[in-house]
Amino acid sequence: MNHPIPTRMRTVFNSFTRELFHYERFRRVLNLGCGHDIDREGGCYSDYFIADEIFRVDINSTTEYAEQECVFSGGRKMANPVDVFASANELPFADASFDLVFCNWAFHDFDREKAIKEILRVLTYGGKFFCTFCRPPESFMMDTYNLLKEHFQLSLVFRLVLLERLDGRDGSAVAFYGTRR
Ligand SMILES: C[S@@+](CC[C@H](N)C(=O)[O-])C[C@H]1O[C@@H](n2cnc3c(N)ncnc32)[C@H](O)[C@@H]1O
Repeated sequence: MNHPIPTRMRTVFNSFTRELFHYERFRRVLNLGCGHDIDREGGCYSDYFIADEIFRVDINSTTEYAEQECVFSGGRKMANPVDVFASANELPFADASFDLVFCNWAFHDFDREKAIKEILRVLTYGGKFFCTFCRPPESFMMDTYNLLKEHFQLSLVFRLVLLERLDGRDGSAVAFYGTRR
């Protein structure tokens, strides 16, 4: 599912993501599958959080999305956006070490079962998990929803369907936000 993410969708999601996190304070945030940390509006996701520490984690140093992200961000590239190179399926962090795991347009690339296990392990009890998916197949979305609601008290399930079709597919995207049970 490595589609380019439509800018209009990104803009809408960025706007509510900024709003959502504007009122919360975190101790340690894990930006999982951070890519270049670029929000394609000239900013970076790290600036969305009020947090003592933010760890940006990605499996790749130069992702296949790099060129595309560079174009979307007006040619600006983050010099060194990844703090720790690691797979979401096996995180090199201690148990209960984050109070927010933020996973923007990346969860669909992980091994879902392994990644959820790891996310639960590194989250504190009462820690939060936020993830978004771009144009997920219906079955993927429902399976993920069922998996997440097993482990999280979901406080936000947001689905946006753009009326325009892109590359013959509809432009839907979903966000989940919940608290670890
Ligand atoms: C669509 S990009 C999203 C990047 C960024 N979060 C954003 O909002 O622009 C998906 C990212 O997930 C990363 N990724 C894929 N599989 C991963 C894994 N198993 N563990 C950690 N990161 C992974 C990719 O390298 C890529 O940077």
